[in-house]
Amino acid sequence: MWAEDVALMRRAGVTLVTVGVFSWSRLEPAEGRYTFGWLDRVLDLLAGGGIGVDLAVPTASPPPWFSLAHPDALTVTRDGVRLTHGSRDTYCVSAPAYREASMRITRALAERYRDHRAPVMWHVHNEYGTPCHCDHAAAAFRAWLRRRYGGLDALNDAWTTAFWGQHYSDWAQITPPRATQYLPNPGQALDFRRFVSDEMLAHFTEQRDLLRELTPGVPVTTNYVLAGWACVDHWKWSREVDLVSVDDYPSGRGMAAAEQTAFTADLARSWAGGRPWLLMEQATGYVLGPRAAPKEPGEIARHSLQHVARGSQGAMFFQWRASRGGAEQWHPGMVPHAGPDSRVFREVCALGEALGRIPAPAGGSLDGPPVAEAEVAILWDEEAWWAVQGPGLPSAEIDYLAAAQQAHRVLWRQGVAVCFAHPSHDLPAYRAVLVPSLYLISDAAARNLAAYVEGGGTLVVSFFSGIADEHTRIRLGGYPGALREILGVRVEEFRPLAEPVELPELGPATVWSEVVHLEGAEAVARYPGGRPAVTRHRFGAGTAWYVSTRLDDSGYARVLAHAGPAGSGTPGVEVVRQRDRVFAINHTEDEQPVPVDGIDLITGRPVDGSLGPGGYVVVPAGAPESSVMYP
Ligand code: GAL
Repeated sequence: MWAEDVALMRRAGVTLVTVGVFSWSRLEPAEGRYTFGWLDRVLDLLAGGGIGVDLAVPTASPPPWFSLAHPDALTVTRDGVRLTHGSRDTYCVSAPAYREASMRITRALAERYRDHRAPVMWHVHNEYGTPCHCDHAAAAFRAWLRRRYGGLDALNDAWTTAFWGQHYSDWAQITPPRATQYLPNPGQALDFRRFVSDEMLAHFTEQRDLLRELTPGVPVTTNYVLAGWACVDHWKWSREVDLVSVDDYPSGRGMAAAEQTAFTADLARSWAGGRPWLLMEQATGYVLGPRAAPKEPGEIARHSLQHVARGSQGAMFFQWRASRGGAEQWHPGMVPHAGPDSRVFREVCALGEALGRIPAPAGGSLDGPPVAEAEVAILWDEEAWWAVQGPGLPSAEIDYLAAAQQAHRVLWRQGVAVCFAHPSHDLPAYRAVLVPSLYLISDAAARNLAAYVEGGGTLVVSFFSGIADEHTRIRLGGYPGALREILGVRVEEFRPLAEPVELPELGPATVWSEVVHLEGAEAVARYPGGRPAVTRHRFGAGTAWYVSTRLDDSGYARVLAHAGPAGSGTPGVEVVRQRDRVFAINHTEDEQPVPVDGIDLITGRPVDGSLGPGGYVVVPAGAPESSVMYP
């Protein structure tokens, strides 16, 4: 089948293939014994077909022999269950045997293929994301805590261990947050998530450094996972990878999938910080949710172009061929079970042809020019997300991801270019900065936001932001502690909502409400009964808005329209400008006007200011209509 695969890949315009992500047991069937013959053949075949290889280091799936020889390197859940091999991702990144074995297979692969012409990139591991609670993890956690806090006094203070008698008098008493009788300590829970991210990053950078030494000049990446969970701090990781690469599996369908795709691509673009990046995985079908289904006609190309328009160097898929057996035998592929005589494969070929006609963006090297600014930034911080997933919060319905997605979605529908920024990043001339339920904000980040508003910026803060410090301790004296002065409000009480209430100016409010006192701000919208719900405050040369409840999309859009960062795009019609070309994608089922004309690079036909249902074009950029450009 491999020869046929290469022929089909050429037909589909495939230029890069990730190989061997989980192949450790096939490559090293016993400790130190390697069977590279099959991989030699695969790489030779691909090289012969002119196809590059993103060669994987298979550390995401240790072989069964390894797990039997080193049971202490198997994952232990928080309940103390030691998992068994038989799936994938069953390892402890802190286990010395796993770390050693990882380096061994990395070295063996790099030495074997350093002079082979096929590999153009290294793909380390896969979607880092297995936390472990074993004794190795405990020891490494303690070492990490010592570095962070220096002494136990600082740790006890940060975690408020006086409460419930959790005071630690010896480092040896500290464990990962394992199953315990009732609520765990929130400071401990948050630090453990930070530790897990750092520990996995250490595993990655060890392999990266070895690869850089053995194969200098070959970029090293690892694919980020972006589902409803994030196990790593992507800002931090993005400083360490040579190329940001992301996987994208939208959970919605139709328009919701297009919105989620834009969200993921804007995150990736922001993490890459102006450098090129890559969509490493997507599927030809929908795999999340209760029912798997193929993507509708045209969606494969439209989703891919959404990424390419935002700077992805290509559009890759998991997986090439839908397999006959194995755990993911029902996962869609570029070649489905039905074979190449199928709609899906024809669409894959059409995509390959289209991408082949779009020239690489100007400055598309790994050291590309810095990203031009988007109009609006949404604050994104995984630490704050982890904190809001912590134990014992006043509502289980506060959802940071959903809040960030709503902010993005509302602006995407209006055609506003959005990027993401860390709360402590320099926030240059963004037209507005949106703060979606960012529970945890450090003092430095709060000062950063104050400086942005004082300098003339527009800040729109959603409820449950700025409440906690970096140790998840509540800032006293009234919520939202860190942002009170900027917002000109003092919140005395939270009142989570069991039932929606109707705000006369903004429609339904759900999940949350607050008793807001005005301390310099003015009320823009009120709860039934007259208490302030949405406020506005002049602060320095700028304005800070506060939304003390959860609005629906149209209510939130109305706040943004008042606050400033609204656009006039047609919902579902996406226009993305790069320096030298413009992408226009019509996600709707109707013909739509688009503010684009010129010759479509994909079809060679003129674009006359409109796009048919589901249509897409890429035209060379004339004079941009606004200063908003992606690299
Ligand atoms: C990704 C993973 C792939 C495959 C895919 C299925 O998260 O990296 O190996 O499992 O999901 O959608």
